[in-house]
Amino acid sequence: MPSLALIVGTRPECIKLAPVVAELRRAGKVRPLLVSTGQHRELLNQALGSFGLKPDIDLGLMTPGQSLPELTSRVITGMSAWLAEAKPSAIIVQGDTTTVLGSALAAFYAGIPVAHVEAGLRTDDLSSPFPEEMNRRVTSTLARWHFCPTEQAKANLLREGIPAVHCHVTGNTVIDALLATRAHIGGLEAAALGARLGIPPAFIASHLSAPKSRWILVTGHRRESFGPGFENLCIGIRHLVDAHPDLGVLYPVHLNPRVQEPVRRLLGGHPRIALAAPAAYEDFVWLMDRSTFVLTDSGGVQEEAPSLGKPVLVMRDNTERPEGLAAGTSELVGTDAARIVAAASRLLTDPAEYSRRSQLRNPYGDGTASARIARVMEAAVQ
Ligand code: UD1
Ligand code: UDP
Repeated sequence: MPSLALIVGTRPECIKLAPVVAELRRAGKVRPLLVSTGQHRELLNQALGSFGLKPDIDLGLMTPGQSLPELTSRVITGMSAWLAEAKPSAIIVQGDTTTVLGSALAAFYAGIPVAHVEAGLRTDDLSSPFPEEMNRRVTSTLARWHFCPTEQAKANLLREGIPAVHCHVTGNTVIDALLATRAHIGGLEAAALGARLGIPPAFIASHLSAPKSRWILVTGHRRESFGPGFENLCIGIRHLVDAHPDLGVLYPVHLNPRVQEPVRRLLGGHPRIALAAPAAYEDFVWLMDRSTFVLTDSGGVQEEAPSLGKPVLVMRDNTERPEGLAAGTSELVGTDAARIVAAASRLLTDPAEYSRRSQLRNPYGDGTASARIARVMEAAVQ
């Protein structure tokens, strides 16, 4: 039986490839091998746990405060050694991380074809997101199969000369993961979830489990915002809660030390700002579902929130996910404090605007992306 290696390194890659693993296993036509670079340690293990997955191989590459060159070189070397030994029929990578770039390059050197899930996203600005825009452009050059979440993503690839016959519009697999997870979180309960994430009991009582309370779910971790960008967005969040006396903010903080330091320094100690541990996927879906809206720089969260009827304010200057902007589900607010306060305050004070932006169709998929990808790959490697 042909084998397909699905490569994961970080939290979003796991969440977005878990449904593809499940679909390949269900159909039983190829042997899926789950290979972890271990670019993330805790965040990846947490995400794997949410889907009951255990990697067949773990290269265990994360080091604290890793630099891009050292991580990239370790992924290329580690993945090359594994590919030489295992010789899978093809590899599947997802997204735009260092794991994706390094693994695609290693497969290219080994003469093993590459399938790219979430292909064709572009900001057309190589410096933002950094280094992801470069990672996905190079990966498109190396890939044989391009699984595009939207028609717009496919159009981006055609513009770069990728043959249409190699592009498949599938929707984003994160919607498959979200819908499957949402179906089994009914039993989760605020007090236990809050305790798992280290949320103070007072915040649980005043916001998480209070029926009519208003609170914003925040995530932020992008490299191009490190330094002044992060300082400004934290200042904006603080001004926002001070401007709205009932408002709470819940921020599960990414483990990157360059995120932890400014967030804890600038947002710690406020009674209505809860800084929490990173949430397991099922807990995070529960939180998104109960939040008033979401303030984020995450790619995956921009795609998911509309399925739960949550407006998204994107703390970036540009996005490779323009479909959300066009549909009105998301709005770019940058990392400028005043702009964040103005955009969030509008959602909090204009019920008609809030209601309009909570009821739009999700442009990123309908939950069938993984099955489409699996069928193409099964046929390709038979
Ligand atoms: C990476 C990806 C980014 C993706 C994000 C998802 C690259 C260049 N960046 O960014 O595209 O959006 O993951 O979260 O591929 N750390 C831990 N434990 C963990 C994870 C991270 O301690 O489980 C700390 C370590 O000190 C690590 C640092 O965070 O060195 C940075 O991790 P890294 O994967 O290099 O970058 P992210 O900012 O997480
Ligand atoms: N997520 C999670 N727990 C958290 C924060 C995010 O499970 O505490 C999920 C989120 O629902 C989305 C994915 O992780 O599916 C996004 O990952 P991240 O923000 O790390 O990366 P990005 O999407 O920006 O690449």
